[in-house]
Amino acid sequence: MNHTYDVHLLPLSFKRKHLQSVIKLILMISLISVAFTKKVSADEVKPTGPDAQKIWDKTCSSCHGNSADIARNYLSVVDGQLQGPMHKTTFRKFLTNHYLSEMKADAIHSMLLTQATTKPRYEVECSSCHKSAADFVRESFVLRKGLLHGKKSGTPTRYFLEKHRDLKKEDVDFFMNELTVMGYKIYLPQLAR
Ligand code: HEC
Ligand code: HEC
Repeated sequence: MNHTYDVHLLPLSFKRKHLQSVIKLILMISLISVAFTKKVSADEVKPTGPDAQKIWDKTCSSCHGNSADIARNYLSVVDGQLQGPMHKTTFRKFLTNHYLSEMKADAIHSMLLTQATTKPRYEVECSSCHKSAADFVRESFVLRKGLLHGKKSGTPTRYFLEKHRDLKKEDVDFFMNELTVMGYKIYLPQLAR
């Protein structure tokens, strides 16, 4: 469509009188749109924000579960590039075609990259004294009514953890969750047999 069409229809005097304000207006609009584009691209390069986790929880978790687990266990970082088990060099492109717009894919991508390269907290904070989480759970805990208990002591693991290593309440929650999920992975298949 030709947008100069309307301008040609205007009388010459009107054109002259208003030419300056039209130019000013066009300048203003282009300045605003430049500012707007800048703002959008600033959002785009923003690394992991709470948004990425929200998007994941809303759009991806129903099929894939926990994003950090997926990132650590299934994705790898090769020369700084995130790769999936199936989509290696095309991983970034795959994300955009997989339930995500370009901008959301950027956010999810940097979140997964961070999570893929962050060591699990258990490994950092606990495994110097305990074995791997899986071995620790297998050797030391049982599931009773869905809750972890010490195999030897029989006391709920949460009670123990609340007095162990000066852990804060949110840390106790975090590690109880990690260990309990591990407990479910190990013991539920055995119960189902
Ligand atoms: C309806 C279920 C479903 C939803 C929702 C879903 N996915 Fe997937 N996803 C799959 C399936 C199936 C595969 C494996 C087949 C494939 O590669 O397309 C997969 C594969 C993947 C992979 C591995 C790619 C590789 O290299 O193998 C990643 C990473 C991934 N999805 C991320 C996401 C993200 C991020 C979201 C949310 C925006 C999401 N998925 C939403 C079903 C889903
Ligand atoms: C500096 C060594 C050390 C670190 C680090 C450590 N623990 Fe322990 N932990 C122990 C020792 C020693 C015991 C057993 C003796 C006791 O304290 O009663 C134990 C016992 C436990 C038990 C009870 C086991 C049972 O048989 O009931 C749990 C649960 C536990 N630790 C969890 C953790 C978690 C989770 C972390 C990481 C946040 C951690 N520990 C970090 C030394 C450590």
